[in-house]
Amino acid sequence: MILEVVSQLTETAQAVIYLFRQDDTLKARLASFSNADLLTEDFKAEAKQVHVLYEGSRKVFLIGLGKSPKEADFVKILRSFFYKQKKTLPDTIGLSLIKGGIEFQWVEAIANGCIVGSYDLGLYKTDKSAEFNFFERTPKIQLETAESGIESIIESARIGEMTALTQIRVMDLMNAPSNKKNPLALADWAVESGQKYGYSVAIFDEKKCEKIGLKALVAVSKGSKNPPCFIVMEYTHPQATQKIGLVGKGVTFDTGGISLKQSTNMHYMKSDMGGAAAVLGTIELAAKLQLPVHLIGIIPTTENSIDGLSIKPGDVIGSYSGKSIEVIDTDAEGRLILADGLSYARQNYELDCIVDLATLTGSCVATLGYAAAGLFTNNESLAQSLYESGVQTGEKLWRLPLWDDYKDELKSDVADVKNFHGKPIAGAIVAAKFLEVFVDEHANWAHLDIAGTAFGDSEFGTMKSATAYGVRLLTHWLRRQV
Ligand code: BES
Ligand code: ZN
Ligand code: ZN
Repeated sequence: MILEVVSQLTETAQAVIYLFRQDDTLKARLASFSNADLLTEDFKAEAKQVHVLYEGSRKVFLIGLGKSPKEADFVKILRSFFYKQKKTLPDTIGLSLIKGGIEFQWVEAIANGCIVGSYDLGLYKTDKSAEFNFFERTPKIQLETAESGIESIIESARIGEMTALTQIRVMDLMNAPSNKKNPLALADWAVESGQKYGYSVAIFDEKKCEKIGLKALVAVSKGSKNPPCFIVMEYTHPQATQKIGLVGKGVTFDTGGISLKQSTNMHYMKSDMGGAAAVLGTIELAAKLQLPVHLIGIIPTTENSIDGLSIKPGDVIGSYSGKSIEVIDTDAEGRLILADGLSYARQNYELDCIVDLATLTGSCVATLGYAAAGLFTNNESLAQSLYESGVQTGEKLWRLPLWDDYKDELKSDVADVKNFHGKPIAGAIVAAKFLEVFVDEHANWAHLDIAGTAFGDSEFGTMKSATAYGVRLLTHWLRRQV
């Protein structure tokens, strides 16, 4: 553990961070610093403001939190600070909550932000030696609170840190380009994680997928020499009362297939396994934290590539459910593989709840932008609990309808359903209606369209990169389910 909880910083903490809210108490809280009058002029504690001063030989960072910071603000502010300052920080750094009067309830978010701030996108850079980096040495962050030793504070710091380490692993997987990450690489990730953290993982290779009738998954994979696979994970705990299915879209690269995408921004389609990444991360973290739940994770994974053998627009394919599907657009591949994932979950398990996550539609991005993922559900209380976890974690969700007004859009003249209505309207909703067919009237299902939130702008790079969206959201939600 990088974080340790202390009642008083030791001499070894060569630099100290203090956090302050922008409120009426700020002036009094700053009074103990030298030149306090001048300081209050310069430091207003606006969100993300960083002010540097010296106390004796110690470097002191005052960090502003803004007016009424919430969990997501603590995460973001600490993450950004550590990311930007990691080259200047000494081996041991103090982070004091006392002067700013920061409550213990924020410790988990603070710990999480500090560690996620260590993230480095330069996985494939060859010259790593030159830079002096806090996180690459033996970093220690002493968290100073008035009531150290309290078990729950230590536990919160530990949870924040463990969450961060899984988020980082998920981000590495998301950011990996398609020549370093094929469906089997996702399977390997799951197997290794399962062995390390104690949950079971079964991998169905292409042959097995064909044999058991995952026909839609196999059809999508035809355009690639990289074979598809189907990952089934199971984590359980003796005190589990609920059995929850998590299904994630694992397209390791989406060219669009024969309905080829335009090339601008096509490189971002290495992230089309964001749903899979969220499921992998959530199950790993649930196992690490030993959450009292029973989870079934299902990941259909493939490339959507282009070749003479690719499925063609107009092709009719089968599916695990037995239903036939007319493929109007080969770029609407996510819903095809999810159809098999959802039917498999439905037919092989008695689940209390099913949540699927997918970078499914550009339409969802057009609707909600990058601020929230689309939430589709047939269950009011599930809508409420997921929405609340979104607000709490900052991994926000906004509900869109599943009304039957949109159902006719799926009617095919030649097959049971078609995968695209061919119109530039309500794309995210029609995609969700398509999935609903394969959920087969399960009464407690939610679909999260994370196309706009899985990959985003951040301090980590000049282009969009992984956000690990879904890991904190689902873990928060699972912790509230028990
Ligand atoms: N992977 C894409 C959706 C996507 C778009 C994810 C932008 C992340 C960012 C998906 O497979 C896709 O191509 N959807 C099409 C569906 C259409 C052809 C019906 C889309 O949204 O344009
Ligand atoms: Zn697509
Ligand atoms: Zn896709």
